[in-house]
Amino acid sequence: MTYENDIAKVLVSEEEIAGAVKRIAKQMEEDFKCSDKKVLFLCTLKGAVVFLADLMKNFNLPAEIDFIKVSSYASGTESSGIISLKSGPDLNDLSEYNVVVIEDILDTGNTLSWLLNHVKNTMNAHSVKLCALFNKPDRRQKEVKIDYQGFIIPDEFIVGYGLDYDEMYRNLPYVGVLKPEVYNK
Ligand code: PRP
Repeated sequence: MTYENDIAKVLVSEEEIAGAVKRIAKQMEEDFKCSDKKVLFLCTLKGAVVFLADLMKNFNLPAEIDFIKVSSYASGTESSGIISLKSGPDLNDLSEYNVVVIEDILDTGNTLSWLLNHVKNTMNAHSVKLCALFNKPDRRQKEVKIDYQGFIIPDEFIVGYGLDYDEMYRNLPYVGVLKPEVYNK
């Protein structure tokens, strides 16, 4: 059994992703090289871990990492807009950090608008920026400012490079469009 038969087409290749990761890491270095605060990459679970791993290796300034898991009480493929924190980072107070929230995809914006507000106003981060590898603007319900963006993508069902369908396909090294017969089974 392989994944390849389930993928209709490659939307973003490994090489294109690697190029975007390098570009974003350089942009971040420019933004943070003169700051006297520490950089914290705050990675949302689970989808962004692949992106985080590649990004942090390309970022040539001191940085810490941590993880946060939020639930949006999704029903099927639709997000409900009701957000809760399932697990937070080790630190409760982020006032000594320039926090970069690392996301795989910005979709409706419900999760991120809640999360960015939480990091800034509840966890008191010195600064908060959003880094999202993929952006689906056609799906937006809440406005969210993206500071670092990889690709604007159409509203298609994509998997790979961390993105899942039913917890599968996260380990594909590229991002592909899933064949409808896979999720219409
Ligand atoms: C995805 C994605 C974002 C969120 C974006 O996570 O990683 O966190 O949904 O959606 P929104 O813009 O509509 O709020 P998901 O809840 O699927 O969890 P996962 O990363 O563990 O797959």
